[in-house]
Amino acid sequence: MNQTNSSWGGRFAEATDAFVAEFTASIGFDQRLYRHDIQGSIAHATMLAECAVLTVAEKDTIVQGLLAVQADIEAGTLVWSVALEDVHMNIEAALTDKIGTVGKKLHTGRSRNDQIATDIRLYLRDAIDHLNGELTRLQHALIDLAGAEADTIMPGFTHLQTAQPVTFGHHLLAWNEMLQRDYERMIDCRKRVNILPLGAAALAGTTYPIDRARTAELLGFDRASENSLDSVSDRDFAIEFNHDGALIMMHLSRMSEELVLWASAQFNFIDLPDRFCTGSSIMPQKKNPDVPELVRGKTGRVYGNLFSLLTLMKSQPLAYNKDNQEDKEPIFDTIDTVAGCLRAFADMIPHIEAQREQMHTAAAGGYSTATDLADYLVKRGLPFRDAHEVVGASVAFGIVERKDLSELSLEQLQQFSSLIEADVFEVLTVEGSVAARDHFGGTAPNQVRAACLRAQVFLAQR
Ligand code: ARG
Repeated sequence: MNQTNSSWGGRFAEATDAFVAEFTASIGFDQRLYRHDIQGSIAHATMLAECAVLTVAEKDTIVQGLLAVQADIEAGTLVWSVALEDVHMNIEAALTDKIGTVGKKLHTGRSRNDQIATDIRLYLRDAIDHLNGELTRLQHALIDLAGAEADTIMPGFTHLQTAQPVTFGHHLLAWNEMLQRDYERMIDCRKRVNILPLGAAALAGTTYPIDRARTAELLGFDRASENSLDSVSDRDFAIEFNHDGALIMMHLSRMSEELVLWASAQFNFIDLPDRFCTGSSIMPQKKNPDVPELVRGKTGRVYGNLFSLLTLMKSQPLAYNKDNQEDKEPIFDTIDTVAGCLRAFADMIPHIEAQREQMHTAAAGGYSTATDLADYLVKRGLPFRDAHEVVGASVAFGIVERKDLSELSLEQLQQFSSLIEADVFEVLTVEGSVAARDHFGGTAPNQVRAACLRAQVFLAQR
């Protein structure tokens, strides 16, 4: 053999071109799989010994060796080699360096194809658990803030025009619902991630008497995969994960957009803590909401990663193809981006300060209780369409007079309908308006407090 790769160079007459070696290597980015690679190898060796493919002594030597390699990696003393291509061959070479020839027996009955598929699944499973932890932390922060702001009245919007008064707590609980679905999607994705591909070997399975169910059990997988060809080839579970991550980002981006608007001088609904903002080098008055802006911006890269992965997979014939090596960077980038954004949000939300007076003033403007006046007339027997017209005329009058409905006199209101009486002012206040929406899912402070309680109990039980 002349300088060819020691793991597969047997049939090669010349060494790999230096650039090709670099071009095809994945060690630059797949080294972060090392812990999961070693975890998978230990389970594989353990199963092989139980099936008498390895002796117990060989297995023990291999397991000790793998743990020593892991210690070296964590101490920063292992030098990754591009010539060894990827994390799997780097670790195997380091193992053989440490324990000698027996290290070469570890790869019995497996291939890098089922090995990498196993590594990514183990890695993603941990990533899902981490992201769900961060989602939970953020949900707690939102629910706590919602409880504190259950009575705070703000304008609710449709088309970004003042629509009806809502409570700030209610708005925050809407965000919590979005995140709750994101959490559930991740749990669902985890079921399809948590399946063992190892044993598929290169593509057709192996001739050794292996026990795949045992390897699955050792690694905490729910079961072994059904079909060896499918096991080494598809990355749909990773695409699904990225999709679920993209939805998390979509939600965080929408929240970011609202936070940015609310923190502006024009809205002035909230104050973001200084330590989550930055200043301007030229405009001394500025306090920029960088964190939500960046989260909104980072959403694009997670969407991009989703498209990379979909496109990567779309025309691959069965079974494994080298194309799949390109799945790592998008997957890792999605994990890092979503984790970072969730962390920033979970840290920031508890410190948001509602500018309650400003919110109240904004809610009281814009004729936000017009629907309440229509409902009042309907309850006095006017058909809704007629009530709508009466209120429309009252609003037009108010605009001319530069007065909100609650600021018009009883006589002025009565010009539009004789059904209006003095008690109308109870429904024209924003307090009356939100308190009246007192049903399951409604914005009344009572309902928000009850919803917070349910959400808290729900989080504690899940
Ligand atoms: N680095 C490869 C990947 O990420 C590992 C599997 C390589 N298998 C092979 N037959 N070249 O997919």
